[in-house]
Amino acid sequence: MSQKNLVFLLGGDFSPEQWQDYPEILEKDITLMKQAGCNVMTLGMFAWSVLEKTEGNYDFSFLDEAIERLYAGGISVILGTPSAAMPYWLAKKYPEAARVDENMMREACVPRAFFCPSSPVYRQKVRAINEQLAKRYGNHPAVILWHISNEYQGIGCYCENCQNKFREWLKKKYNNDLNLLNRTLWNNFWSGDFSSWDEIDIPKPKSRTYGTGLYLEWKRFTTELYVDFMCAEAEPIRRFSPNIPITTNFHGCFFDLDYHKFKDYVDIISWDIYPRWHSNNVIDEAVKAGFTYDMCRSFLHKPFYIMENTPNVANFETPNTTKRPNMNILSSVQAVGHGADMIGYFQWRQSRGGYEKTHGAIVDHSGRDDTRIFKEICNLGKLLAENKEICGTSQKAEVAIIYDWETRWTLDNIVAFGGKNKKYLDTCLKHYAYFRRNSIDVDIIGQDSDISKYKIVIAPMLYLIKHSTIERFCEYTKNGGTLVATYITGIVDENDMCYLGGFPADELKDVFGIWAEETDSLKSGITVKVCADEEEFEAVDYCEYIHSVTADIIATFESDYFKGMPAALRNSYGKGTAYYIGFRDNGKYLNHFYDKITHEFEHYSPADGVFSSKRFSDDAEYLLLQNFNAENTTVKIPPDYCAPDGRPMPETFDIPGYGVKILKNRK
Ligand code: GLA
Ligand code: ZN
Repeated sequence: MSQKNLVFLLGGDFSPEQWQDYPEILEKDITLMKQAGCNVMTLGMFAWSVLEKTEGNYDFSFLDEAIERLYAGGISVILGTPSAAMPYWLAKKYPEAARVDENMMREACVPRAFFCPSSPVYRQKVRAINEQLAKRYGNHPAVILWHISNEYQGIGCYCENCQNKFREWLKKKYNNDLNLLNRTLWNNFWSGDFSSWDEIDIPKPKSRTYGTGLYLEWKRFTTELYVDFMCAEAEPIRRFSPNIPITTNFHGCFFDLDYHKFKDYVDIISWDIYPRWHSNNVIDEAVKAGFTYDMCRSFLHKPFYIMENTPNVANFETPNTTKRPNMNILSSVQAVGHGADMIGYFQWRQSRGGYEKTHGAIVDHSGRDDTRIFKEICNLGKLLAENKEICGTSQKAEVAIIYDWETRWTLDNIVAFGGKNKKYLDTCLKHYAYFRRNSIDVDIIGQDSDISKYKIVIAPMLYLIKHSTIERFCEYTKNGGTLVATYITGIVDENDMCYLGGFPADELKDVFGIWAEETDSLKSGITVKVCADEEEFEAVDYCEYIHSVTADIIATFESDYFKGMPAALRNSYGKGTAYYIGFRDNGKYLNHFYDKITHEFEHYSPADGVFSSKRFSDDAEYLLLQNFNAENTTVKIPPDYCAPDGRPMPETFDIPGYGVKILKNRK
């Protein structure tokens, strides 16, 4: 890909509507933005009560002025649609626009989120203002991207309209055949058959575990309803502003919405990230951030935007740890390394009043340009400008990890496997950690994604496996792929119905060369001994009772009634290999295991605590080194790398604590 004219975007959420009585602030802001190297601002997401003061009474003067001034200052605009926060006039006049909670109570009128996603009047009001915005600014040269709504919530709504929509959705899915629905979801369990569609209610939190299949259907329906809401609000924008791309800001691995279902309706993936850098372990936080960056890049397999991160404290966290020196640059270089082409901040300037007046900002209440944070953003601006040739370049990953929302929803919901917290996401992160700590680039994909191009595909705890996924796993392994699965894999199908014949499901037993009969969940503090290659390991949380049919045993249980039984196995299947790990461990075994299976392919790890990622253009390879250690760390680089300006680099050099280094290799 040649990306000659692109530049990284650097900017923030900007709320000129809050400063209308302070004209000097807007003027000063633009000077400060240029000084910091910011080239884009995100506006309008929470400005509805200013843009439409009363129903149909539009006033775009503040936005006109802000956009014109930004444009004159050479700063582009990402324009938000205001649906995330309805004005009071709307909530009072049309109470049905607010969400109904699981106790059948309408949300009190709160000026942010919690609208009903199916409410016809809310949709109509949102479309009306979006149409005004699209007509007015849809061809404005300052506007480079539409930001649809803000962090869709996806917790669902229990109003009569949403209930009816859910019934209609089920009717369509089950071809109007209630008997088919009853059989598919195993409804005669506890006398749960429906005799008419009207009897179907959205499952309440307490009843969810009873009708687990219906709960899964409702979660799917809810995601589709929000996708539908997004498309409805984007429709006037697509119509009147066809040349400007759209995005909506995701929030990472958020539980309630399956973002795979959104990806085909947006042009650019963007998301908001708030790591707890120095409140937690910095390296663990970097692993988590890397996982979500990789997921965002893998949705469309192209660069993504960070729409928000905080320049300093996040006011909603406890404790409110400040962002330590260098972290803005380090975290941004990490994001760029994983495919980010924009670093956006919440917020440009601290609001003077309201809930977020204590949240970090590039410009704080002092308004000064010599604060620690402002100066750091200036340095970030320089660094991004100097490295603009990396913008638009791609990544190549040979490993994929499957993170699946439907598995997360169903696992979270069932009574089994040790209770509420089965740590599905955490388990995916544990597997990912090996690769990130060893600087092996990974794609994070869904279970429906294409896996044919990867050398290794890892499916941790993939409890729910669709029939189509089984077929693809068989194909993939037969054709020479390396497939890794763990305990609690392939128990249920897409309807949350158990596969008959033991687990893992159907043909997966042949792929892994095993059959498994029990999953024991261990009390906290209890461990089971495991031995592999004459080394000792410990199983925690889960152990499975597994039989090998054709597989080689690569780890064995050494205590409890599992003693002598296989703990991990390797099976040749077609031209490929499938591994099954039948226990959870605290990380030591995963390191041992992945050391062995990755040793055949070449990779480069700079040093402990220093992560690296690669981006590729047509004629160069870029290596972005990130030192997440507090101390100076010595790294050794692979041959042929130089500084981006062509200066030669020594083979070994030091990177300061929380420092970065960007290198280039001409092909
Ligand atoms: C979210 C929102 C922002 C802001 C930040 C605060 O990500 O999208 O509007 O409220 O949180 O951290
Ligand atoms: Zn509703």
